Amino acid sequence: MSSVSKTASKTPIVTRPNEIVTIERHILDQQAAHPEARGDLSKLLYDIALTGKLIAREVNKAGLVDILGETGVTNVQGETVQKLDDFANECFVKTFDHGGQLCVMGSEEVDDPIQIPSKFECGDYVLLFDPLDGSSNIDVNVSVGSIWSIYRRKTESGPGTLEDLLRCGAEQVAAGYVVYGSSTMLVYTTGEGVSGFTLDPSIGEFLLSHPDMQMPKAGTVYSLNEGYRNLFFDSTVRYLEHLQTNDPDSGRPHSARYIGSMVADVHRTLLYGGIFMYPATKKAPGGKLRLMYEANPMGMIMEQAGGMASTGKERILDIQATELHQRIPLYMGSEENVKLAVEFETGVR
Ligand code: AHG
Ligand code: MN
Ligand code: MN
Repeated sequence: MSSVSKTASKTPIVTRPNEIVTIERHILDQQAAHPEARGDLSKLLYDIALTGKLIAREVNKAGLVDILGETGVTNVQGETVQKLDDFANECFVKTFDHGGQLCVMGSEEVDDPIQIPSKFECGDYVLLFDPLDGSSNIDVNVSVGSIWSIYRRKTESGPGTLEDLLRCGAEQVAAGYVVYGSSTMLVYTTGEGVSGFTLDPSIGEFLLSHPDMQMPKAGTVYSLNEGYRNLFFDSTVRYLEHLQTNDPDSGRPHSARYIGSMVADVHRTLLYGGIFMYPATKKAPGGKLRLMYEANPMGMIMEQAGGMASTGKERILDIQATELHQRIPLYMGSEENVKLAVEFETGVR
């Protein structure tokens, strides 16, 4: 950590491709490298891109049409559901319930497993998603996103069950997110590195803009809701004090950035390095963010880009889920930053 210069993290490590590659082409090329593949995962990835475009279109006109405001319904997390949450959730369900690749789905917005209607075939995969992350930011035109992860089913055949959904993140076969920001980007991994695509809205195509994304080994930005400082445990407060201590030689104090949309905060962390965290608090000792919809998919992206994802004590992707809407404390980002956070959280420092 001591070798980090203040400017080291300012330039994202991105190799610009000099060819025009659509996401379809990229998915096909990846599939071609696996002659045994039947194409089901590829179909799921195409449909992720389609869902992303449908949601992006709606998010982009959120200020124009009478779509703002809240439906007044509370979701399973006890939070107010906004109309765009509903829309995004429906987009996922309507895109994925009839393709024949999935046997069950799980959504942050839906209490129970989402079954595939009996008139459609069930497939070998399982999809979990946070249809719209950061939805409290919609009304103020700040980036939001969708986060998703795909597993192979555990049960043999027929409709999927809770057993297919309650998994360990290390079992993910693909994961990613779409961030609806100043441009719409789709970032995903199938366990062979991370690729980023930017939507060209004029042609409706995601084009490869960020091939083989690797995050900086260390960064000088930390991201968390510091308003909860008085609710944090001592280990977390001491860690924050360390980051804020003036020590120019080691690049401290670090800068704080917090958007309040995990998808956007993690996207920045992926590009610039540093750490995003949502620690345990005295009020919420289990953390706030969800293991299956937020921590696991983003954790896989971080690791595939050379970063780390931890609860502060253990690797996120090693946790076996016991509940669909399970929450978890979270520290993810550049390897050196996360290692340091873990040292504080485990009492090594
Ligand atoms: P969601 O909109 O899917 O419910 O997620 C909101 C999450 C996440 O995006 C963000 O990092 C966090 O909530 C913000 O929480 P605080 O307002 O407590 O900081
Ligand atoms: Mn979320
Ligand atoms: Mn959400």
